[in-house]
Amino acid sequence: MLKELNFFSVAHEYHQKTVTLDQRTLTIRRAMTQDVRGIIALLKDVYSGRSPWGTSIVWMEINRIKTSLYLVVEDEQMIVGVVGLRIGQKDAHITNIAVMRQYQGKGIGKLLMLEIGRYALQKECDTLSLEVRQSNQTAQNLYRQLGFETRGVKKRYYHDNFEDALDMVCRLKGATRRVFQ
Ligand SMILES: CC(C)(COP(=O)(O)OP(=O)(O)OC[C@H]1O[C@@H](n2cnc3c(N)ncnc32)[C@H](O)[C@@H]1OP(=O)(O)O)[C@@H](O)C(=O)NCCC(=O)NCCS
Repeated sequence: MLKELNFFSVAHEYHQKTVTLDQRTLTIRRAMTQDVRGIIALLKDVYSGRSPWGTSIVWMEINRIKTSLYLVVEDEQMIVGVVGLRIGQKDAHITNIAVMRQYQGKGIGKLLMLEIGRYALQKECDTLSLEVRQSNQTAQNLYRQLGFETRGVKKRYYHDNFEDALDMVCRLKGATRRVFQ
């Protein structure tokens, strides 16, 4: 039965948009296979030369088109932001979000979170969820601003330094729903 349902399920779609931020015209669109190099370059920039995801993981993630939606922000064909969402029946899980260092603090992270939240709402998910390093105050500020709350701690979650992760959730029904409309 499940297999039959999967056979008929369709790829998640996103219609490209342009936005003006800090006097630059940026494009937000779905990530495609040809973006793998650009996404790795972005992740290397953000994580001091060491991308946490290799080429094959990025390729697989952006090609899970029936269960995932990856968006990129482009400035003149350079990828300066990326966000990933795995869409389940009730929960949509944010797998990654990153903005190139030079472009941070200009509203791109918030823009990506709002886009992905709106998409989850359209898909009638009840919640958005994610994990974030306990030390990552910048990202936590962004998530809290959008209505995320900590529902638990995942001990020693990160393999590189065994740092704990905050397990955060945003309920899309009720008051926070307005944020994403
Ligand atoms: C977290 C990240 C995606 C935010 O993207 P960004 O484009 O810089 O964020 P924005 O400019 O949209 O800012 C949104 C909010 O984030 C928080 N924020 C952004 N920069 C901050 C800083 N330097 N210090 C504290 N809070 C900050 C603020 O709450 C801000 O809202 P405000 O502008 O109303 O104060 C970006 O900093 C990044 O790529 N960091 C490295 C990768 C990472 O940590 N990813 C998260 C993994 S869970």
